Amino acid sequence: MSDTKKPHFPPVAIEPVLGEPWVALANGQELADWTRENEIEYNQNNRQTEKHLFYRRTFDFLTDNRVRGDYYEFGCHRCRTFRMALTEARRHNLDSMGFHAFDSFEGLPDPTSDTSVEIWKRGALTTSEEDFMGMVRDHGIYVDNVRTIKGYYSESLTKELGAEYLDSGRKAALINIDCDLYESAVPVFDFIDPLLQEGTVLYIDDQFAGYKGNPLKGVSKAFLEWQKRTRWKVVRHLDISWWGRSYIVYLEKEEIDGVL
Ligand SMILES: C[S@@+](CC[C@H](N)C(=O)[O-])C[C@H]1O[C@@H](n2cnc3c(N)ncnc32)[C@H](O)[C@@H]1O
Repeated sequence: MSDTKKPHFPPVAIEPVLGEPWVALANGQELADWTRENEIEYNQNNRQTEKHLFYRRTFDFLTDNRVRGDYYEFGCHRCRTFRMALTEARRHNLDSMGFHAFDSFEGLPDPTSDTSVEIWKRGALTTSEEDFMGMVRDHGIYVDNVRTIKGYYSESLTKELGAEYLDSGRKAALINIDCDLYESAVPVFDFIDPLLQEGTVLYIDDQFAGYKGNPLKGVSKAFLEWQKRTRWKVVRHLDISWWGRSYIVYLEKEEIDGVL
């Protein structure tokens, strides 16, 4: 990274100091020229650093527990988390892992639930399929293992596609649900249900985002509703800063006996 591109603040790292206030804090002089652009850079640095830490930890969890399967992402936008998955998979030499990118590649649909983020409108967060694949190719890891599935979930997650995935036997090792809206997440949970296995990690990126953190709204609501209709159980695993949480999927004993 060239000097000009270096962030001018330490991402995430909180530096301890010997004396009050016991951590190094930027003071008024250092923040005198702090702009909205600086704020965005600061947030992105902190957020993506936390997400990368989650991917590092989770690929170690999957490898150590011999949970084998593919990576599924619902909400791919700037290919940030998708590239994290590719990199961590390569670090663990997971050469046969498949990577499935589900997105409209036209941004959000018209929100039908009452979100608290005014910029979440139809078309927000658009990255085209071409640009997304360009980023995958530039990244240069497991490019041939990447599949994109374009379309709004209410239309793209068809029974036929579900059957195709089921027949392929491509179970999920890690699923990232990062599509912001309640109504977007509802069909996703039904689609992934047959792809789950013991040890699949479910990463709910928007557990506390978009609906003022209300656990009874948004993607959290879709997640709770799905838990009531599925035979799968989930146990809380990692926290991803203030917005997300991951869960490990498992079955109770009677259910295991029933499916084996
Ligand atoms: C927050 S962004 C994802 C960020 C991405 N994981 C990253 O790291 O760059 C949300 C994405 O969800 C997609 N999305 C939301 N609702 C959708 C729906 N109903 N159908 C298809 N894609 C949807 C948007 O197009 C957008 O790309």
